Amino acid sequence: MGIGIDIGGTAIKGGIVDHLGVIQKERMVITQSQLGYDQVLNDLVLLIKELQQLSPTETAVGIGIPGILSGAGETVVSCPNLNWQNRPLKQDLERELTLEVLLVNDATAACIAEAAFGSTRGRSSSVMLTLGTGVGGGVIINDRVISGAHGVASEVGHMIMEENFYNCNCGKNGCLETFASATALIRYCQKQLAEGVESDLQADGDFDARRIFEAAKAGDSLALTAVNRLARYLGWAIANISDLVDPEIFCIGGGLSEAGDFLLERIRAETKCRLTYPRFAMPEIVLATFRNEAGMIGAANLGRFN
Ligand code: BGC
Repeated sequence: MGIGIDIGGTAIKGGIVDHLGVIQKERMVITQSQLGYDQVLNDLVLLIKELQQLSPTETAVGIGIPGILSGAGETVVSCPNLNWQNRPLKQDLERELTLEVLLVNDATAACIAEAAFGSTRGRSSSVMLTLGTGVGGGVIINDRVISGAHGVASEVGHMIMEENFYNCNCGKNGCLETFASATALIRYCQKQLAEGVESDLQADGDFDARRIFEAAKAGDSLALTAVNRLARYLGWAIANISDLVDPEIFCIGGGLSEAGDFLLERIRAETKCRLTYPRFAMPEIVLATFRNEAGMIGAANLGRFN
């Protein structure tokens, strides 16, 4: 058993996960990041204590963070989606808890879950992309998580693709996240509508990424252009990553992966025509096994690919 926590933009989820990667008990609180770091810290402590009571023999808790950690995994260096900079989260939590606290990037946690129990199980080299509010990445090569010299490796969402019409939350322009996240998809459609492009989305007022995929599947031309654009940038990114680390398999997770084969087929086609060695180095590209629970499952299993 292990305790795994996933801090997301809207909810903090915690679970007790067994050795097969099955969540036995789960608890959740709303992420009140607008009330500041101390509030989230307090909510985290209460959530972890509750889980510890449910499984009193635990000695550690793993926590997935939607941002960048210091090399030693002690400080949250930057987490734009929660508005955190340089927060000593490990120390702050360990002061209040009787557990060892292990911090990890959220997408790396999801990548570990997939490699240990899901779509990339049994493959020694895999890459995960999580497509949600942001774009996250996890890289495992030869059964080891790649975290880099400063702990910021696998920040796939911040690879520069080309100039874009809005800046990323990280402050840069051109990040993959601004082309291939749910936010990116919505902003692109909003911009096109504002410029007078006709679409069924117009009638919806507010629309989310799921609605855009629905409209694309129904043949709406703007929605289809938006999805094809997103797939094109993902194909570029996957081809670039393949040329760099040559993994056997990529898995695509996060909310947008619910679009299924409709998205996957497009990503595969865009990858193939951008690879340098498509005939013998085309990676498999599959959907992730786990949905929202991947971060928790991975965070509870951090020792697996060290
Ligand atoms: C952050 C990553 C995170 C991803 C998914 C990005 O904006 O920079 O660290 O993994 O969002 O939450």
